[in-house]
Amino acid sequence: MSDPRGVIGLIASGAGGTETIRTDLVEPALERGWQVAITLTPTAATWLAHTGERARLEMLTGFIVRDEPRLPGQRSPHPPMDCYVVAPATANTVAKLALGIADNQALTTAHEAIGSRAVPVVVFPRVSTAHAGHPAWQTHLATLRAAGVHLLWGEDVWPPDDPGVEPGTRRLPTALILDLVERVTTAR
Ligand SMILES: Cc1cc2nc3c(=O)[nH]c(=O)nc-3n(C[C@H](O)[C@H](O)[C@H](O)COP(=O)(O)O)c2cc1C
Repeated sequence: MSDPRGVIGLIASGAGGTETIRTDLVEPALERGWQVAITLTPTAATWLAHTGERARLEMLTGFIVRDEPRLPGQRSPHPPMDCYVVAPATANTVAKLALGIADNQALTTAHEAIGSRAVPVVVFPRVSTAHAGHPAWQTHLATLRAAGVHLLWGEDVWPPDDPGVEPGTRRLPTALILDLVERVTTAR
């Protein structure tokens, strides 16, 4: 790529839609001129290793897909990012981000990005009505908003399904996510 727009740090978790991040997020971002470096939660890493997607994503992006911390003294295998996108974000990952829990590499990366406020962070929660009905959910969203996180959340973005309902033909909201990335990175 001769003149990349910048690098998106894509963080995916164990939510519906993670199986298709290659076609629904990574390829469209590359087509728009972004580079993409991916970090997965342990659940997402298991899923994508199982289907062979992890290797395909590494081939496509040219970066190692991370899910483990580097060793002390080792350099990060990823470049500096221009924007982080946590998508799809499970209820678990959203809750941990709001509480500042960083007990895996994906959360560590997102946690530092939110806390440092150095680059924009976009989060697309992909949760069920049960997750959204948890008494702490609204507080988690409010905490993240107050920290400057750009949340893609609401009935107009992704009306939550009831627990156990398969998403069927519903795809990740590619254009909404990438348009927001472009708005928040050009606004800086
Ligand atoms: C097939 C499958 C689909 C799932 N989809 C979702 C989902 O869309 N949203 C969600 O919040 N949790 C979902 N879960 C539950 C999460 O994977 C589970 O809470 C896990 O602990 C999340 O870990 P992570 O946030 O570290 O990826 C799903 C689980 C399975 C087995």
